[in-house]
Amino acid sequence: MLLKKNKEWEIYKNITPERVFINRRSVLKNLGFAALSTNLLMRTAQAAQNLYRNNLYPVKENKKYFIQENDIKGGIRKLTDEYKVTNYNNYYEFGTTKNIKRRASKLLTSPWTISFTGMIDKEFEIDIDDLTKRVALEERIYKLRCVEAWSMVVPWSGFALKEILKIVQPQPKAKYLVMKTFFDPDNVSSQRQDWYPWPYTEVLTIEEARNELSFIATGVYGKPLPNQNGSPLRLIVPWKYGFKSIKSIVSFDFVEERPKTFWEAIQPKEYGFWANVNPEVAHPRWSQARDKDIGTNKMYDTKIYNGYEEWVSYLYKSMDASDSLYR
Ligand code: MTE
Repeated sequence: MLLKKNKEWEIYKNITPERVFINRRSVLKNLGFAALSTNLLMRTAQAAQNLYRNNLYPVKENKKYFIQENDIKGGIRKLTDEYKVTNYNNYYEFGTTKNIKRRASKLLTSPWTISFTGMIDKEFEIDIDDLTKRVALEERIYKLRCVEAWSMVVPWSGFALKEILKIVQPQPKAKYLVMKTFFDPDNVSSQRQDWYPWPYTEVLTIEEARNELSFIATGVYGKPLPNQNGSPLRLIVPWKYGFKSIKSIVSFDFVEERPKTFWEAIQPKEYGFWANVNPEVAHPRWSQARDKDIGTNKMYDTKIYNGYEEWVSYLYKSMDASDSLYR
């Protein structure tokens, strides 16, 4: 190890005069107090907003999408345990393990401005708590299937994505809806890792966004969405692998050309654009034929489009299944 030894005069050179030192101390102290009180104010505002959001739930269940499924031994599938769903998460902004709840809890989700841009009637911004006043909130029980071959059955609260399309009126030339997660490298250290193409970005075709299953979740298990599950709003597209279901969205952009998604930019052969669940198309490193419930460890035969074929197969009629369903 190389240690630098100061010459005697250098030690004096590095000593700060007392006046400057005292001034600097008081400035730092004041700055510290200012930062502390700003933080306190922000946390207090967040607590007030949490109370408001708590009162929005539970909302009425839309029973149309209930899961009816048996595990490979014939047992009836039930909701996955809430503790598991809220403690076993993929959220790379807060780390690459499943245990990111504590780190994610530091994210302030109020105020939370969402922008609507691109080929729409009129560009605008809106706070999430004003947006939820303009849509019909409901609960839907969906199965979420991760590309890592685990799954869960979850009661999400929120609203149909097509409600957003009704509000913004995309122009006929708009072909894709691009959604992005926040980008805050000053406060979220993983976003300083420049080998990831931050911010997390996901894209649907406009037809997929209009599909009745596409859902924006703002709550789960009859409560506001916790940070680790993507508060204050995240996408749920249950016929696609879980990585398409982008969390903590800050922008919806309507475009003509398809940009690369976060995972497509990292590894297109493994995490392609379409990402439709398909037991016949293996991931290059493992089979997709079965999935394991993260709550019970029971195994299920994976179904095409994760069991949502009757709602979505029309979207992919003209595609070559082996090529497009996965990638
Ligand atoms: N969204 C963001 N912004 N960052 C992420 O790392 N992970 C995705 C998706 N949305 C992710 C994300 C992946 S890989 C999955 S499987 C699901 O979120 C997991 O959602 P859950 O933690 O609520 O189960």
